[in-house]
Amino acid sequence: MAPAAPASYSIPQKALHWLMALLILFNLIFSDAMGEVAEAYERGKVPSPGDLTFANIHADVGIAVLCLGLVRLAIRFTRGAPPAPAESLRSWHSLRIWRMVPSMPCSS
Ligand code: HEM
Repeated sequence: MAPAAPASYSIPQKALHWLMALLILFNLIFSDAMGEVAEAYERGKVPSPGDLTFANIHADVGIAVLCLGLVRLAIRFTRGAPPAPAESLRSWHSLRIWRMVPSMPCSS
């Protein structure tokens, strides 16, 4: 049976939300090294150690986002979440976000 909808998000849910937002923003801003490494390998060159480090950080952060998204889903299914306002765009917005979160780390 689905849990009764709580009146608000819990502190761990809010913390996960903002942590994921920061990590996604980080990866959107710091993605250049990934391109440099990919280009170096395509040209048969060795990427610089700095680019390799930042590329690894990009991949690790992306995988962390995927894992944190799974934790958020698990909490949502066990604890529940406040209902979205009826007839509002917010429920469509959250559906799109939930489709985007796994697709960003998985599509790279
Ligand atoms: C929250 C997750 C992620 C976000 C927001 C993100 C974001 C980005 C962005 C904005 C770019 C630049 C795209 C461009 O310049 O056209 C990029 C490139 C790249 N990302 Fe990610 N990424 C994420 C996760 C990952 C993961 C998990 C991996 C691999 C393990 C990855 C591998 C790559 C690679 C290889 C490129 C370079 C592609 C190229 O230039 O050919 N990303 N990423």
